[in-house]
Amino acid sequence: MKIKIIDLDDLGNGLTKIDNKVCFVKRGLVGEVLDIDLRKEKKSYCDANIKKIIEASSNRVVPLCKYYDQCGGCNFLHTSFEIERKFKEDKSYRFLKACHGFYKTKELRYRNKVTFHVLNGEIGYYEEKTNSLVKIDYCYLLEDKINQVLKIFLENKDSYFNGQIVIRVNYLEETLVIIDGFYRKIMKIKESSLVDNLINNDQVLKGKSYFLENILGYQFKVSYKSFFQVNRLGLEAIFKILKEFLEDKNINIALDLYSGTSVLGVLTSKYAKLVLSVEVNKLATNDAKENRRLNKINNLKVINGKVEDYIDSFKNIDLVIVDPARRGLDKKTIDYLKIIKAKYLIYIACSMDSLKRDLVFLEDIYQNKKIYLVDMFPRTNKVECVCLLNLR
Ligand SMILES: C[S@@+](CC[C@H](N)C(=O)[O-])C[C@H]1O[C@@H](n2cnc3c(N)ncnc32)[C@H](O)[C@@H]1O
Repeated sequence: MKIKIIDLDDLGNGLTKIDNKVCFVKRGLVGEVLDIDLRKEKKSYCDANIKKIIEASSNRVVPLCKYYDQCGGCNFLHTSFEIERKFKEDKSYRFLKACHGFYKTKELRYRNKVTFHVLNGEIGYYEEKTNSLVKIDYCYLLEDKINQVLKIFLENKDSYFNGQIVIRVNYLEETLVIIDGFYRKIMKIKESSLVDNLINNDQVLKGKSYFLENILGYQFKVSYKSFFQVNRLGLEAIFKILKEFLEDKNINIALDLYSGTSVLGVLTSKYAKLVLSVEVNKLATNDAKENRRLNKINNLKVINGKVEDYIDSFKNIDLVIVDPARRGLDKKTIDYLKIIKAKYLIYIACSMDSLKRDLVFLEDIYQNKKIYLVDMFPRTNKVECVCLLNLR
């Protein structure tokens, strides 16, 4: 079937209309004339794949990666970075009615952490929206050191191994490898000079269970199961945005909710008399206490627990920072944010969809919204949003 792509959808796929029904064409680009195969047909929409490109867009490029057709990791390797950036900015205007800045990071080799799935010894990523394994021997999104460690695993396959391999790398290029499952060649990994820290089924086999990170001169201990932003330059950009916003504010008490290792709490402690961090992961809260010491801070209190279990106990708060997981905020937390009425709210979101939904509930008490996009996940359709709000 011959169609013409008229726009991009919210995931960066091509969009067209067939008999007034919306059709999403995987990796179609605006202006392209394509021969398509329908993959799924529903009452109100259909999904399609490109069978043949009849007229290609001048923005189409040959994907750098040989796995691009099957792998669910990247979404924009078939086009230029400028098109990807425009998609992210346009989506911000569509979803959030604003975009006050776009912070570029690195187009490739930016990820400091990867999770590989292992099936009968074969290592790879899952195909988009499925659990089928796409075998990988190199990924352009990963920092070089991670690809080097992956190579050791590929040279030491164990066809009985089913599990997961996480490889992390810090600013000093030290590695931390976490293997879940029974892997018979683990000694080969342990012996490798490329592996500094190795944890198997929660037991340290080499080095330590954590390493240090450094962002703009601040030191952070990050344990093997603690969250840390996957793109260091992206976190630096968040720091810069927050610093600029907080510089002239007179803050007594600040909340750092969903705080991980309290990276944002540590930063904010310079601009507030007291900061309270709340984080559910015990390891991360222990790291946060150490991060307080590493950065010589004495006005940061760290609470281990769920935000929704503590949110009703906070009073006289000037600033709230929320940085929740992809699903966004729960109803109770939103309801209490409206009672707490902090003078300033900073919402950091890795999902623009969740941010859009939550802002609808908050807009009757917050105004002067400023939206900054931080390109935390280049070549994918995801972008980190930093939203700055003032109380009405
Ligand atoms: C996106 S990370 C942000 C961490 C931190 N702000 C940073 O930039 O490194 C979200 C964090 O929220 C934590 N988390 C998830 N659900 C939570 C909850 N209900 N209460 C408290 N923390 C939660 C996760 O463990 C994770 O560390």
